[in-house]
Amino acid sequence: MHLSIVLRRILLGLAASVESVLTNVAVLLLDLLFTGYNLVTPDRPVGQVVLKGHPGFGGKWPEYIPPVEGDSRCSCPALNAMANHGLLPRDGKNIKFTELGAAIRKVYNFSPTFCFFVPNYMANLLNRNYRTNRLDLADIDVHNCIEHDASLTRVDSYEEPDQSKIATVLIEELLRSGTGPGGDLTPDDISRLLGKRRVESKKRNPKYSLAFNHKMFGSSNGANLLTIFGGRIQDLRPFLLEERLPDGWEPRVRHRMGLTILEFNSTVALPVELSIKEEVDGSIALAGRERYAGARDGRKDD
Ligand code: HEM
Repeated sequence: MHLSIVLRRILLGLAASVESVLTNVAVLLLDLLFTGYNLVTPDRPVGQVVLKGHPGFGGKWPEYIPPVEGDSRCSCPALNAMANHGLLPRDGKNIKFTELGAAIRKVYNFSPTFCFFVPNYMANLLNRNYRTNRLDLADIDVHNCIEHDASLTRVDSYEEPDQSKIATVLIEELLRSGTGPGGDLTPDDISRLLGKRRVESKKRNPKYSLAFNHKMFGSSNGANLLTIFGGRIQDLRPFLLEERLPDGWEPRVRHRMGLTILEFNSTVALPVELSIKEEVDGSIALAGRERYAGARDGRKDD
């Protein structure tokens, strides 16, 4: 055993943990401030959510060009759509983590705290430096980092390793499932669909896994459809099926400091997750039981 190596590892580990705790506390405090600011200031007027001088102002998005062979795309329709419109490099490659956050802020009106937190989290998962390193969009798809099973717009990676592939059948089902006015999606619709996907996915996928943080990513991503897109099927159709921002579209969240982590989680993502009936009625627990209970070789548990 090399004592100096052990000591350095312990010290470096401690320093990294302290840095991470301090960063998260600072982000959450700032986020709280932004949430308060949003509460006491009027929303931006309709038609002016994207600021003047920025691409997308007045609903005029730069030209949509679908990806070509060799371009990098990923499981996230929002990031792919930005690349398809040239709001990120069109080839989806060599993107700075800092550039990613800045673009999300301008295009989707998330708060600066959210726009730092998610790319920084991603950089940490990929063992890269948030400030200096870069990524290709496809790098985001490392399974069970953020990309996970049972999502609403992608077939599980067990069946489709290329997670940039748009799962048309799943998306068409999503687009048909709205029970809100004009068939738009509601929080209950997203909870219902997520529950159904978890059951189906566990039945079909022998490598199914969904830890708590992946459940939360799933419901947060679903919640994005309700917040930033207001659940509106008319906008979600091109966004999910072509990864295109429709002409005239702007984020439905109009707060001056954008959608904060606190508001997002407390008002939409967590309620969506906690309302998934299949998590408590035993259907997820039972799904795929024949496989796990040894039915195939006659060794049943009960
Ligand atoms: C750096 C920021 C972001 C990262 C790293 C990221 C990452 C991801 C990943 C890995 C997935 C796939 C999850 C899975 O289905 O397995 C995903 C899906 C998704 N993301 Fe993002 N995302 C980011 C920003 C955004 C933003 C700003 C929005 C909204 C405007 C958004 C909306 C969505 C939606 C709607 C899905 C599909 C959900 C589903 O299929 O169930 N994402 N994202």
